[in-house]
Amino acid sequence: MPTPPSSDLKAIVLIPAAGSGRRMGTAISKQYLQLHGKPLLAHTIALFDQHPLVEAIYPIVPEDDSDYCRREILDKYRFTRVRRLVTGGKERQDSVRNGLKALAEDGYDQPERPILIHDGARPLFNPNLLPALLDDISAGGACIVAVPAKDTIKQVIQGQIVASPLRDQLWQAQTPQGFRFDILHKAFQQQDCNSVPATDDAALVAAAGYRVRVLAGEDRNIKITTPADLLIATALLDSYQEKSA
Ligand code: C5P
Repeated sequence: MPTPPSSDLKAIVLIPAAGSGRRMGTAISKQYLQLHGKPLLAHTIALFDQHPLVEAIYPIVPEDDSDYCRREILDKYRFTRVRRLVTGGKERQDSVRNGLKALAEDGYDQPERPILIHDGARPLFNPNLLPALLDDISAGGACIVAVPAKDTIKQVIQGQIVASPLRDQLWQAQTPQGFRFDILHKAFQQQDCNSVPATDDAALVAAAGYRVRVLAGEDRNIKITTPADLLIATALLDSYQEKSA
């Protein structure tokens, strides 16, 4: 589909952090687990809070967590660009849909406005990639950060391999994933009609007929899902601190 010309509007960032985090196996929700003495979600918000290309941030959290999150994250770390907390939904897509509704209510629904969606569970994204990502969104309407697959990936059904896609063509999707507002809005409208099963937003946008570009990201941008990921994130942060010391 053709995309109208770009603009200089700053980005709005939705941070879905309303998952249950069952795979972490901890009593406390994973977005509040401590990483270098700071809750995971605070690390993630901080990636965008001071960035000159970001206008507003909307963390999306479970309804029951909003007081805790306001007190222990927003007030404590004095984030300045967080516009408001949004209540999450049952599935990730429901959480993002709620975020989209909130930013439209606040007047950030210009068609060409870049909307970034970044998992609350990815505290190690390198914000230096944001200018290139926003340039690609401006030029093509939709772009995600991803890395080439290192492992050979198998499609497995009931314990048996049914396909071995060529590794050269496989990339692991990360976030941020960024879209012009009009494209994302259209993709969610179509999703409401067709209900495409999807674990990321790029899949919905592609299913709605738009081309989605890929920007090569970095391996450090892991999603904290299991206790092993938390150990890896701690080691990565340790190494950055050593380098900057
Ligand atoms: O479960 P998954 O790994 O896909 O989650 C990616 C991100 O989406 C996490 O940061 C999680 O908190 C968030 N999420 C959400 N609402 C849900 C499910 C997941 O905001 N209902």
